Amino acid sequence: MNKLLSCLISAGLALTVVTATQAADLAEQTFQQYVDAKGTIRLPQGFRLAWTHLGSWVVSDPEAPGYGFHDVYTQPEAAKGYRQTGKFQDGTVLVKEIRKIGAGKMTTGQAQWATEPAIWFVMIKDAKNRFKGPHWSKGWGWALFKAEDPTVNASEGFEKTCRGCHVPARHSDWVFVDGYPTLRP
Ligand code: HEC
Repeated sequence: MNKLLSCLISAGLALTVVTATQAADLAEQTFQQYVDAKGTIRLPQGFRLAWTHLGSWVVSDPEAPGYGFHDVYTQPEAAKGYRQTGKFQDGTVLVKEIRKIGAGKMTTGQAQWATEPAIWFVMIKDAKNRFKGPHWSKGWGWALFKAEDPTVNASEGFEKTCRGCHVPARHSDWVFVDGYPTLRP
């Protein structure tokens, strides 16, 4: 085998190892930091600075169930993993932060902007079926936290609180991927 070829092969192997390690790290970190041994989900902190912003939605009708600005975040490794494979990797955490809406006339025009957070929705990819119970279903952990007490998962479980609304996204792993341009390669 010539030198160049063996060099290329070992570089290829090294690359595979790095990718595999990153993927394992993502799951390890997630299941250490955001989920306890019983499968209780915690709200991640600091995601606005440290994580990747996937996309935004705005529901401006105050009577609508989802009234507010919705911003969706994930770990940078999870965003890269999806862009490479088209799948959410084990340990991916999706946080949707809903903030109230401020409005007024700016020099740009009539504007709306996000003010204080009201609620956070969290999904955690569990590709290995680690947990059972009402908050773990369809390969994800499902939780919601309200600003009044962000330490408590206020969801009654996937079937009761989340499923009905997420059915339209069931063919894209229950995630509304069309709203997340950052996931497109
Ligand atoms: C009223 C309907 C509704 C309910 C109830 C609901 N969702 Fe969603 N969810 C949506 C829609 C629609 C989107 C994307 C568009 C948007 O935010 O307006 C979304 C987006 C999300 C996102 C961002 C990633 C994605 O899937 O696009 C997360 C995370 C999320 N929901 C988690 C949850 C969890 C966890 C529950 C239950 C505790 C839940 N949702 C209940 C309708 C709902």
